[in-house]
Amino acid sequence: MSRVLIIESSARQQDSVSRQLTQTFIEQWKVAHPADSITVRDLATDPVPHMDVNLLGGWMKPAEQRTEIEQASLERSNHLTDELLAADVLVMAAPMYNFTIPSTLKAWLDHVLRAGVTFKYTDTGPQGLLTGKRAYVLTARGGIHAGSTTDHQEPYLRQVMAFIGIHDVTFIHAEGMNLGGDFQEKGLNQANAQLAQVA
Ligand SMILES: Cc1cc2nc3c(=O)[nH]c(=O)nc-3n(C[C@H](O)[C@H](O)[C@H](O)COP(=O)(O)O)c2cc1C
Repeated sequence: MSRVLIIESSARQQDSVSRQLTQTFIEQWKVAHPADSITVRDLATDPVPHMDVNLLGGWMKPAEQRTEIEQASLERSNHLTDELLAADVLVMAAPMYNFTIPSTLKAWLDHVLRAGVTFKYTDTGPQGLLTGKRAYVLTARGGIHAGSTTDHQEPYLRQVMAFIGIHDVTFIHAEGMNLGGDFQEKGLNQANAQLAQVA
């Protein structure tokens, strides 16, 4: 049995393409892996606070010096990190907002990229500690960006995942969602065809 962690980040609950992709992923995954557990963390309905001085204090101060709010910030970060550590498969759904990921997803990443927990510094440089995990990134984009310099999602997320030790990362992009003609249909069909190969 594997554990799957789904991260949703579209601000939209209705008509969201990235949420449609995760629903399709979940349906197909359940058929292929009925015993697996699936946890969904929705960063739109349950947002994670931005990185702030209290989170840094929670991480860095010894327990007896932490304020209550620093302790609470640390516990939130621990909870999110434990959820990620427990997952065998990570699925991140991300709309493209202003050429990159939603700030809600960035805030989540800021809570789970933890020195000594998800990566560590060694004499030869940083080393990711999350070995043996697989990730899927399901994006929805108004335009077409894959492979171009305007795509600040895939290169960034590949770097972040590699930094914490996740090297097996598959990207599925639904592109052209706000374009006219048959761009939207083609983009969705292509993404769904790739999704069908995953489970
Ligand atoms: C605030 C905002 C910013 C956006 N920025 C971009 C962008 O930079 N590039 C792009 O191709 N599409 C952009 N879009 C379009 C979305 O990526 C597209 O509508 C996508 O389907 C949104 O994901 P969702 O359907 O899961 O909500 C933007 C949409 C919004 C609402």
